[in-house]
Order: sequence, then C-alpha cells, then structure tokens
Amino acid sequence: MASPSRSGVFQQSTDRRMEHFAESISFDQRLYTQDIHGSIAHAQMLQSVGLISDQESQQIQDVLQEIQRDIQQQKFPWSVELEDIHMHIEQALINRLGDIGRKLHTGRSRNDQVSTDLRLWVRDAIDRMDGQLVALQRAFVGRCDSDADVILPAYTHLQRAQPVLAPHYWLAYCEKFERDRGRLADCRKRVNQCPLGAAAVAGTSLPIDRQDVARRLSFDSVADNSMDVSSDRDFVLEAAFVLAMIAEHLATWADEWILWSTVEFGFIRLPQEFCTGSSIMPQKVNPDMLELTRGKTARVIGNLQTLLVLIKALPLAYNRDFQEDKPALFDSFDTVEACLQLAPLVVEGMRLNRSAISERLERGYLDATSLMEYLIRHGVPQRTAHHCVGQLVGLAIERELRLAELSLEDFQRVCPALDSGVYEFLGVKNAVRAYLSYGSSAPQEVEKQIARWKDKLSLSIL
Ligand code: ARG
Repeated sequence: MASPSRSGVFQQSTDRRMEHFAESISFDQRLYTQDIHGSIAHAQMLQSVGLISDQESQQIQDVLQEIQRDIQQQKFPWSVELEDIHMHIEQALINRLGDIGRKLHTGRSRNDQVSTDLRLWVRDAIDRMDGQLVALQRAFVGRCDSDADVILPAYTHLQRAQPVLAPHYWLAYCEKFERDRGRLADCRKRVNQCPLGAAAVAGTSLPIDRQDVARRLSFDSVADNSMDVSSDRDFVLEAAFVLAMIAEHLATWADEWILWSTVEFGFIRLPQEFCTGSSIMPQKVNPDMLELTRGKTARVIGNLQTLLVLIKALPLAYNRDFQEDKPALFDSFDTVEACLQLAPLVVEGMRLNRSAISERLERGYLDATSLMEYLIRHGVPQRTAHHCVGQLVGLAIERELRLAELSLEDFQRVCPALDSGVYEFLGVKNAVRAYLSYGSSAPQEVEKQIARWKDKLSLSIL
C-alpha cells in the first residue's frame, strides 16, 4: 500500500525498518475521532468555498463516518506502512472513494492537521479533568459537616504547630485543586485556537475559509500566523505542566494520608477497598492507592521534562520531533485521570480516628501561639511575648505538664502581665476559638468557607 504522502519524487520505497522506526499509529490512533471530525469540518469548508462539489463533500463525509464506525467496531486495519492516523484515514477514504477521496487534503497539510487533532483531543481531556477535579473537591467538601467538630494538629516542618479544624484541612486541598482548575481553563484558551488552514507552513494560495472551519470545530478563534501554527507546541507543554501541578497536589495529599494512617500517627483509617495486604505479614493493610498516586507523580513530572527537552531550540517550523510529544502527553493525562478517578472514593471512605486524635491533641504545645497572642493583647511586645512563652513551654516540658496545668504563679513568675484570664486561651479548643482573622481556622471563618464552597460547587445537601 503506497502512502498518500509518498509522491512521484520517490524512486525507492520506504525501508521496512524505517517504517517501524517512524510510525506513530501505535499511539496516535487514539486521535481518530478528532481526525475524522477535523476532516469532516474541512470537507464542509471546501464545499462552502466551492473547492469541492456538494455531492463530493457529502460522499466524503459519509465515508468518513463509515470509517469512524469501522474503527469503533474494531474492523479497521492498522498498518505501520501508513505511518500515522492521518494517513490511515485518508488512505481508507481514497480506497473507498477513489479520486473524490484524493480531494480531501486540498489546502491542508498533516502539519496543521496534527495540531488540530491534538488540540481537539486536549480540549476534551481538559474538560474531563475539570469534572474530575470538581468531583474531588466535592468529596472534600462533603466531609466538612460531619468532621466540623474535629480538631487536628496543623504541622510546619512536620512538627506540631497550631490546632485547626478538620474542615480547614479539607478546604486547603479544595483551594489547591481550584488553582489547578484555573490553570486548566487558562491553558484551554490557548488550546482552543484553530490551526487548520495554516497548511504546511506558509498557508495556501487556495481560497479556503479558515473562520468557517474554526466555527465548525467550536474553536474560539483562528491562529494568526501559519509559521507559528506549524511550530507551536506550547499548548502541549502548558497542559503537561498543569498536569504535573495536579500530580504534585495529589502526591502531597497522598503522602499526608499515608503518614496519618500509620500506627505512629493513627489519625485515620483508609477504606480497605483501596488497600492491599502483605503475603507474609498478616496484620498489614497497606495504603497502595495513595503510594501509587505519590509514585505516579514521577512519571507526570518526567513527561513534562521530556516535552521541554523535546521542543527546546527546534528551528521553525514543523519538525518531525513533534511526533514524540504524544506518548508523553497522553501518559500524563492517563496517569492523572487514573489517580483522580480513585481519589474522591478514598476521601469519602476515610474514617477519622477521633478518639486517638483527641487523646494526643494536648501534646506538643499546640496552644503556645495562642498564649503568645494573649500576651500581645495585654501589651507585651511580640518578641518579648515569644520569649516568655518559650520559657513557659520549657518549664512545662521539664515538669511533663501541659501549659494549662501550670499555676498562675508559674505564669506570673515568667511574665507578670499575665492574669487568670490566660486559662481561657489555653488548650486546643480555646486556641481554635480564639482565632479571628480572615482565612484562619476560626470556627466562624471555617463555617463561612464551607458555605462558600458548597455554594460554589452547588451542593446544598451533602
Ligand atoms: N505523525 C506526525 C506527527 O505526529 C504527523 C505530522 C507529519 N507531518 C509531516 N510533515 N511528516 O507529528
């Protein structure tokens, strides 16, 4: 089968080894829907400007749809000889329609075609992923009411820092995934520009209508410079970066909950459906879903690196190197989508070990900052207050006491400004109650944030 792109200039056929080396059909066949939709829109445009007749256009569209059905029903033959998805579909069209099929590639090149297909694919993938991120946010928000009264230690440097309400943790993840959604939406704007009609590199002398084809494919606009179109893979890199960022956020969450599920922390129990056992240690319930989520992040970051290096310093315009962008890009989407499919289920199924959490909550002097702020409110300069509370914590550690168990004399010896009102700010519950600032873990602030998120995700009843 001669490839449609191998013109009369060739006197030798392609070496078999070269065919295997150069093929992309093994991974770009997943672009078949986009390729066919792009071709149908192109044929309709060719018809509208009179480059093909109404009847030819109809025949081309019918056969393209037939080809799509054949592919869906796995009746379509794939062969490395035809290199990529574009040539497979065009050759099948020619096989079925003869000379009429040979007209489809009018005013078009595989360079603008591949960019079109990939943009349509990424656009759909972005929309799917946005839905998955919302589902994950919903899972976190869905826990907020039932976990509203749970206080957890917040950590910095993985050392106990200050007490917070559990929903404050859950909503922190919602914020991160919201920024990811914003990045996806921003990336989508640049994805959604129509390259079709830029042809190989310089455009065409044929009277095509680029606006028409862009409209048919629901692109927002037409890319302005044919040379840029031919050489632009920014959108691939941007998507790969956003995916790496999502994977980073997922890995942070996974790592935190892996720690929390250990005997050492004992904060949570993970849903067993997403854990595995050990073949030798019968007591083990391993957090594999979270470990793999954390582990797969490596691939997603690696893919971004691959793409950055792939595109670096390529001369304008199209270079065949671009073909190598697809395995990395597809893998990033597949990997992050797989993680996002399970993540909400793990969030929903996680059980907090409330008693184990609260039993140890008074350890680690989580209320020290609250005490320091009490002093500040009594006119003690911050640095002095910090120093005094440091001394009091030192005293409490020495006597193996909590701050609330120190006597008023102990407090006054270190800081004469203190009075018995101090006890109302000690202990984690009091410390949480004392928060005031916007965005803090103050109960009234967290409540407002929960309401805002429910509203945003349109969840009145969770
Ligand atoms: N398979 C190619 C790719 O993914 C399609 C474009 C080929 N264009 C060309 N001029 N050889 O980039």
